[in-house]
Amino acid sequence: MSVNVEPIAPDAQDFVAALEAEQLPIDDLSESGRLFFRFTQNGTPAGFGGLEALGEHVLFRSIVVFPQFRGQGIGHLITESLLEHAASLGAKDAYLLTTSAADFFAAIGFKQIRRDEVPLEILSTRQASSLCPSTAAFLTRPVSNQAALLHASTKETVQ
Ligand SMILES: CC(C)(COP(=O)(O)OP(=O)(O)OC[C@H]1O[C@@H](n2cnc3c(N)ncnc32)[C@H](O)[C@@H]1OP(=O)(O)O)[C@@H](O)C(=O)NCCC(=O)NCCS
Repeated sequence: MSVNVEPIAPDAQDFVAALEAEQLPIDDLSESGRLFFRFTQNGTPAGFGGLEALGEHVLFRSIVVFPQFRGQGIGHLITESLLEHAASLGAKDAYLLTTSAADFFAAIGFKQIRRDEVPLEILSTRQASSLCPSTAAFLTRPVSNQAALLHASTKETVQ
């Protein structure tokens, strides 16, 4: 499977609709410091992912795969691609919040942490401070070497 990635504007219609369909935050999409990507399979949009770079830390967000594309490894590819992008920006640790997919991210090496273990830069994001429910779990994993590890364990590629 070959999946292509392209940067998108925060107000791309299909992106916003996909987030709304999964009740993921959209209120802060257009604020500065966010990068978003569309992932396509054979030219058809299959999912999206985004990040907020905060120095050594990076917040992954807006990760969604269209229902008809789920279960094919695209969610993993999106996360891999975000890790590669985070590494290229010099980030050391990736964080994310989720209410429903903690086990999905745990399978990619993310570990759940307590709110009081989360760096202030991440806690200060709008996702963490107001947009995500207080019941959302925080997960983290190192950025370094992740790309190599994932490449070794999958034949799939993001181009
Ligand atoms: C979570 C999500 C991105 C996974 O995408 P995907 O393309 O189906 O994931 P993959 O195909 O790479 O991985 C599938 C594996 O993850 C597991 N998985 C998928 N979604 C899961 C979830 N919400 N919770 C736990 N495990 C999940 C599957 O059971 C499967 O496990 P297996 O490999 O042992 O069979 C997708 O279900 C989605 O868009 N969910 C709604 C939005 C969301 O919750 N985003 C995350 C918060 S930002």
